[in-house]
Amino acid sequence: MTEWWKSAVIYQIYPRSFQDSNGDGVGDLKGIQSRLDDLKALGIDAIWISPIFPSPMADFGYDVADYCGIDPRFGSLEDFDALLAAAHERGIKLLLDLVPNHTSDQHPWFLESRSARDDPRRDWYIWRDPKPDGSPPNNWISDFGGSAWEWDEATGQYYYHAFLKDQPDLNWRNPAVRKAMLDVLRFWFARGIDGFRIDVLWHMVKHIDLPDNPANDEWAPGQADYTRVHQLHSTDQPEVHDIAHEMRVIADEYGARVLIGEIYLPVPKLVGYYGTVERPGVHLPFNFQLIGAAWNARSLAKMIADYEGALPVDGWPNWVLGNHDRPRIATRVGAEQARVAMMLLLTLRGTPTLYYGDEIGMADVSIPAHQVQDPRELNEPGIGMGRDPVRTPMAWDASANAGFSPADPWLPLHPDWLERNVEAQRGDPASLWRLTQKLLFLRHEHPALALGDYHPIDAGGDLLAFERRLDHDRLLVVLNLGDTPQGFAIPEWAESFTVLASARGGHDPALLSPNEGYILG
Ligand code: NOJ
Repeated sequence: MTEWWKSAVIYQIYPRSFQDSNGDGVGDLKGIQSRLDDLKALGIDAIWISPIFPSPMADFGYDVADYCGIDPRFGSLEDFDALLAAAHERGIKLLLDLVPNHTSDQHPWFLESRSARDDPRRDWYIWRDPKPDGSPPNNWISDFGGSAWEWDEATGQYYYHAFLKDQPDLNWRNPAVRKAMLDVLRFWFARGIDGFRIDVLWHMVKHIDLPDNPANDEWAPGQADYTRVHQLHSTDQPEVHDIAHEMRVIADEYGARVLIGEIYLPVPKLVGYYGTVERPGVHLPFNFQLIGAAWNARSLAKMIADYEGALPVDGWPNWVLGNHDRPRIATRVGAEQARVAMMLLLTLRGTPTLYYGDEIGMADVSIPAHQVQDPRELNEPGIGMGRDPVRTPMAWDASANAGFSPADPWLPLHPDWLERNVEAQRGDPASLWRLTQKLLFLRHEHPALALGDYHPIDAGGDLLAFERRLDHDRLLVVLNLGDTPQGFAIPEWAESFTVLASARGGHDPALLSPNEGYILG
């Protein structure tokens, strides 16, 4: 039997911004539950919810203070159980966000660890003496800027944090840490969740000697501070694959669960996170290439071919167009091309992950300085690292605050919400929401789209074309990545095909309008 997550489409929910049910301007679990029918109508199969655990919110939930609870801002464990049951009733799977690399500095483990050098939990985190001159143990830089080492006056040592100083890294070389975190997986699997997205999986193990990272000679002012060095020794250590495997063993014990690893690495290293047939790692190492790609047909065609070619035996592909950390697709490629991008995401071979709001073409929102919330922007202002612009509230309808909340939302809505919202687009056959719905419907209808092989078709200029095929089910996809008309020679085997979907409502796949795309079958 084919695993459910191979044919599923995953939808990422940023819980603060999806739907508020209690009028505090911040989204919550009851809000998500109230929107499940909308997601079902769209045709999604699974939701991944960014962290909802108790947290001081220094990094908006990626600083966890209790792995087995729910932050009161989002609701309670009972609310969570109700949401999970409601999702399952509708045939929607639910994935949580596991943040195993670091905890909050308010987590009881860290409070104990920092209390004394001889505390039994001291070694749960990465503590080191200063260099003789008092400076940090090495040159590692936090991803959010500045030294990755924070001085603790009371105990006279530094601790390591790959992100904020409020997010100390756990020491995964300590077996007690491993056991405690693996128990967290068991806790949520036993409660019935269908999988985890695993935060910064490639960061989890550091070189045992903590040597300096090599300098990046190409670094220039205006670039993020952490890119001044190559993270050679602070990330992607061979031992991390043992951890991925240990997590996989647990997931497999529960059956029909999926593990998705967040990993930003070049493809040859990324695919290592699938593990091997004997020692499998995560099911899906997130493939973020579409987010950073040069958006033109030829380089996309090459990128897809290279990725397909690099996958290990049994390694199932996956594709991501956007997430809560990166600029939105509508901003990257423009409103018209975003339709083609959606068609690409939902027709490539592999599990797609769709970021909330992308189905209505929400764009980045420019956030006035006094409203900035993201610590990444506050630490390194003005160099484009801030993530608030992509985390703004979902626009549901034309009522107050776009139906997101009766109160002022925690971040501003996009100024176009009165026209660009789910309700308006559901009623408009030409909208991106309706196109997305159609594409998801086709994926459910055609096994070739969800599970079939991928065969590139030679097409020149701005065209990207490929075949998807499973047994007798055969489809042709042709996309115009440019803004000029493009002629396309339809292959003989597809001459009798009809148009199943088009990105902009066209009828002539032999001559594609700008930003047009077709699925033929
Ligand atoms: C990756 C998450 O996606 C990001 O939002 C977060 O700030 C860092 N990991 C730290 O947990």
